[in-house]
Amino acid sequence: MAMAISSGLPAPCSLLMATLMLLIVQAQSITRHYNFNVQMANVTRLCGTKGIVTVNGEYPGPALLAREGDRVVVRVTNRVAHNVTLHWHGIRQLRSGWADGPAYVTQCPIQTGQSYVYDFTVTGQRGTLWWHAHISWLRATVYGAIVILPKHGVPYPFPPPHEEVPVVLGEWWRADTEAVVRQALRTGGAPNISDAFTINGLPGPLYNCSAKGTTTYTFKLKVEPGKTYMLRLVNAALNDELFFSVANHTLTVVEVDAVYVKPFTVKTLIISPGQTTNVLLTAKPFYPKANFYMLAAPYSTIRPGTFDNTTVAGILEYQKPGSPSMSSFDKDLPLFKPVLPRFNDTGFVTNFTSKLRSLATPQYPAAVPRSVDKRFFFTVGLGTLPCPANTTCQGPTNKTQFAAAMNNVSLVLPSTALLQSHFTGVSRGVYGSNFPVTPLLKFNYTGAPPNNTNVAKGTKLLVLPFNASVELVMQDTSILGFESHPLHLHGFNFFVVGQGFGNYDAVNDPAKFNLVDPVERNTVGVPAGGWVAIRFLADNPGVWFMHCHLEVHTTWGLRMAWLVLDGSLPNQKLLPPPADLPKC
Ligand code: C2O
Repeated sequence: MAMAISSGLPAPCSLLMATLMLLIVQAQSITRHYNFNVQMANVTRLCGTKGIVTVNGEYPGPALLAREGDRVVVRVTNRVAHNVTLHWHGIRQLRSGWADGPAYVTQCPIQTGQSYVYDFTVTGQRGTLWWHAHISWLRATVYGAIVILPKHGVPYPFPPPHEEVPVVLGEWWRADTEAVVRQALRTGGAPNISDAFTINGLPGPLYNCSAKGTTTYTFKLKVEPGKTYMLRLVNAALNDELFFSVANHTLTVVEVDAVYVKPFTVKTLIISPGQTTNVLLTAKPFYPKANFYMLAAPYSTIRPGTFDNTTVAGILEYQKPGSPSMSSFDKDLPLFKPVLPRFNDTGFVTNFTSKLRSLATPQYPAAVPRSVDKRFFFTVGLGTLPCPANTTCQGPTNKTQFAAAMNNVSLVLPSTALLQSHFTGVSRGVYGSNFPVTPLLKFNYTGAPPNNTNVAKGTKLLVLPFNASVELVMQDTSILGFESHPLHLHGFNFFVVGQGFGNYDAVNDPAKFNLVDPVERNTVGVPAGGWVAIRFLADNPGVWFMHCHLEVHTTWGLRMAWLVLDGSLPNQKLLPPPADLPKC
């Protein structure tokens, strides 16, 4: 009925129209129900079969589809011998912190045979996010994409692609990753590394046992000449930041972490664990009589031990002209291979990340906090813990174990959930509210490391009043070597207002901050040997985990949590926990 009239209306009438349209759009929001059964499945890769933890027997797990504004209800049932939680990485979880998922932070784990319903609404986000297990290292195999479409009738701010394809990057481990992390914690040493990288669970032809029968173990993107494809890239790897490139094609970046960006075109991109990136790939206008590799390989600066220095390949192939169906792989055609940056090419990474900018348009504004209520400075990096008496360890020395910390506090998770103890008001014996706002011991963070590299263990939260605008500078340290740390904040998006190398200069660096169109995201790399400054508005009450998304560093303690208090209005308060919230 409202559709017939479209223009030439006097102002009050168009206001009415706008209101009507808004109501129609809101009415279109629906509730989407999913059943996620966490169960074992046997999967064969690299000539070996092993039982892995999956959702519904799928590896990678099922993609979760929603539209902006939808309510998502996922019933998770644990049918494996491990404790389990799932996290909806990047979902804002406005007032629904009970559905966020990090074990011992917002919930006790779902025990074997039990269920828990994650219930949340997707508000103000569209693009690609992902979900993963959030306990121990189970996310090695328990992960999948989250595809959030814009509201009905709202177009993309770029030409609509012909097709959209999730491209989820991961690792394959021959070993049981739970045994790997257990052993590392027992010896104090660096954990083993993965054996392969995967695209949508497939290692591809560059690995042994994957070359034959490329149909089974290789991801293929089949395209038609002249059409544009949107790849929804996710880095689900445990411990590796990855370069990604497609031979003889360019990638136009249009969105990261479910926020649109000003489009820019590259041959290669970098994506860190936790991050998501949507890119447009336009196929060549004519049948090219060739196949093209898409490759992903790690970016790694110095780190203890070694890293998985292998490459996953997928194949981009074109439909033959006149052929009724999509062609199957024709291996007689020439195969082009992209050249990736060197594994430690920090210059490339800096150049790429500096191109990321918010759209900052009236429709998609960059709501950067202009003024700052709370300023914080955290060191992030590795450290040590003494080896238990009368034992030897496999840490940096045989008298030490590897550890990691923020402001020298290595977070110890409690045996109950932080959010529960906050909500019920019994924090004594669970957590303190005294996370240091600045390093207790100042040193030249990017110069020679201090003699004492020991971290302190503790369970300390940093308390924020509701709606505080926060500026946080995170500084890498030289302790046990410079390393890039993809830091992920739960419950919020933040703006990356500045970054640099060396020590942050609180006098001169703020003048260079971008408060106009900084990129908005949920996971940002603290540069190896440098710092990054972020700003966010603490408008979401609850307990929010923040940690390095390299799982090895999280395990060692590179993690902390914010406690955002309730506001005074009824709609500024954390809702009570659902009745089925798991018990510890
Ligand atoms: Cu993607 Cu706390 O995690």
